[in-house]
Amino acid sequence: MLIKIPPSWKIKESDVTPEDIYFNRRTLLKAAALGGLGLVAAQTIPEAWAKAELKKLSYKTNALYKVSEPDRPLTKEDLATSYNNFYEFSLDKSEVAKKVEAWKVQTPWKIEVKGLKGPDKTLDVDDLAKLVGGLEERIYRFRCVEAWSMVVPWTGFPLAELIKKLEPSPKAKFVKFQTFAEQKIGTNMKNLPYYPWPYTEGLTMEEALHPLAFIATGMYGHELPKQNGAPIRLVVPWKYGFKSIKSIVKIEFTEQQPMGLWEKLASSEYGFYANVNPKVEHPRWSQATERVLDGKFFPTKIPTLMFNGYEKEVASLYKGLDLTKNF
Ligand code: MTE
Repeated sequence: MLIKIPPSWKIKESDVTPEDIYFNRRTLLKAAALGGLGLVAAQTIPEAWAKAELKKLSYKTNALYKVSEPDRPLTKEDLATSYNNFYEFSLDKSEVAKKVEAWKVQTPWKIEVKGLKGPDKTLDVDDLAKLVGGLEERIYRFRCVEAWSMVVPWTGFPLAELIKKLEPSPKAKFVKFQTFAEQKIGTNMKNLPYYPWPYTEGLTMEEALHPLAFIATGMYGHELPKQNGAPIRLVVPWKYGFKSIKSIVKIEFTEQQPMGLWEKLASSEYGFYANVNPKVEHPRWSQATERVLDGKFFPTKIPTLMFNGYEKEVASLYKGLDLTKNF
């Protein structure tokens, strides 16, 4: 008999519900309780829920479960989508959402894949959900190296599912990701000519195959907004946010450890592993605490957790690595 034991970071679907669906449910339940909808209606409530959920959560979703970190509230959607790091468009976080407006996200969005057992491939983002067997929702903590943090419901699929379908070369030890390189899209790139564009990032194969490593195609039940990395990005919740590369156009399985844009630019500040670690200071600031993105003039400060709170799940990946030298 196969018994599926959910991993520690998974909680029941009922524990986290988007606000408006939650309120819809409440209204329906209240009406049912008051007898307003009567018995027949009471039977149709689950159906109504299902419809509401699908409408809200599944712009291209056919399989859903939710994962949460119940210890912190969700970041408000308008904050998570208006305070962004996307240097291809602007250095000013509050300007990115405006600067992406002119960008017409290319459809179909193609992703080049190299370093496979077989020949190179080109994937179409729209086919990915089917390829990996559906989308799911995950609520993750997200901690930027600049010491601000948020909690975001992402829609997407485990990176491991994609890797399994792609069949990398058995020699592959790393995965390298790349963002678009076109300056006509990333209108700020020309203003930063000393940046080693395009934005690249990498993971070890072991990290990439970890069940927490996630490819997001949506957030808050919608397609990924352009400022958050449309149409597809990486989310690695136990690492500093710069590892979570946006708007991916290329995935390559490599034997050599890839160097990300930040590591190329300042390797003493931004290393390959970049695991969230409150004990290792950034050369220019402490990483012991973080400012919660809560819209307050003086944001709430909380202690930063080792591996961003995912220590139990990921610490085994780093046995033998000197965690006092994170960068
Ligand atoms: N990806 C690209 N292509 N360009 C970027 O500038 N910034 C990174 C990461 N991915 C970045 C990127 C950094 S520093 C962070 S903190 C997160 O995206 C921010 O993601 P968010 O804007 O969705 O919060």
